[in-house]
Amino acid sequence: MTHFLDIHKTSAADLRKIIDQAGAMKTARKGQPKATPDADQPLKNHMVALIFEKPSTRTRVSFDVGVRQMGGQTMVLSGTDMQLGHGETIADTARVLSRYVDLIMIRTFEEQTLLEMAEYADVPVINGLTDRTHPCQIMADILTFEEHRGPIKGRKVVWSGDGNNVFASFAHAAKQFEFDLVFSGPPPLDPEPALDGLYTTERDPNKAVEGADLVVTDTWVSMHDPQSARERRHNQLRGYQVNEALMAKAKPDSLFMHCLPAHRDDEATSAVMDGPHSVIFDEAENRLHAQKAIMRHCLGL
Ligand code: CP
Ligand code: NVA
Repeated sequence: MTHFLDIHKTSAADLRKIIDQAGAMKTARKGQPKATPDADQPLKNHMVALIFEKPSTRTRVSFDVGVRQMGGQTMVLSGTDMQLGHGETIADTARVLSRYVDLIMIRTFEEQTLLEMAEYADVPVINGLTDRTHPCQIMADILTFEEHRGPIKGRKVVWSGDGNNVFASFAHAAKQFEFDLVFSGPPPLDPEPALDGLYTTERDPNKAVEGADLVVTDTWVSMHDPQSARERRHNQLRGYQVNEALMAKAKPDSLFMHCLPAHRDDEATSAVMDGPHSVIFDEAENRLHAQKAIMRHCLGL
């Protein structure tokens, strides 16, 4: 079974194939209305379940549109509406869903839920974000970087902010795609120890971004973080805001990324988000193309 659970769980060769196929599929449908079917219809007669236990705009819409462009059908399920949210085990849910659908995408809280779904499903399972990782986002980000600047191999990527789930997938990608990743954030918000060795740390964001090809940040309070942590996190992270002064210290042709949704003028200023370095809406678009290639990889189509 070919799941897509995390970037380090898929081989570097397969990841490269996915990125290249995503780029080719994007090019092939340039300028067409969004509902135009792709020329080949690899997901024809396929049903895909999209399960959301947390809110989503990009993941929900891009998966749904992507499946339809490839000729398949979707059902979007909210975790709370399913028996999953009322005590049915993940294992039983996985076995039942496998009798109805050909592919499952799940956005959930604990990683264990994703892993159990994958263990007991008879169909491929895709990680649409957990508290620990967000691999589909980083595949879209790699595609975006390479479209603008060529191969990411050997480039310097700097993360300024919380060492969260999106950072974790960047750390996994740093090894697989062979780029240098620098984390800049306060010690209490360091990435989890399991990621040690995949990145280096520079506490001073001004020093960290020197020579950066790409500067990335994300929300200071993630969906799984308690709202009570908000004020403390804002105090801890204020110095790591990505603003024009910080971007000016990176390479002149550096890119700026944020997976969105953003809290404008907290983790990044509007001047940066809407400025010349920013590729945030290309990242959002590329969720569609990257995930289409991920689904084809999982289904062997
Ligand atoms: N970046 C991202 O995953 O966005 P959504 O939460 O809107 O899906
Ligand atoms: N770190 C954020 C990413 C949202 C796409 C979160 O988990 O809420």
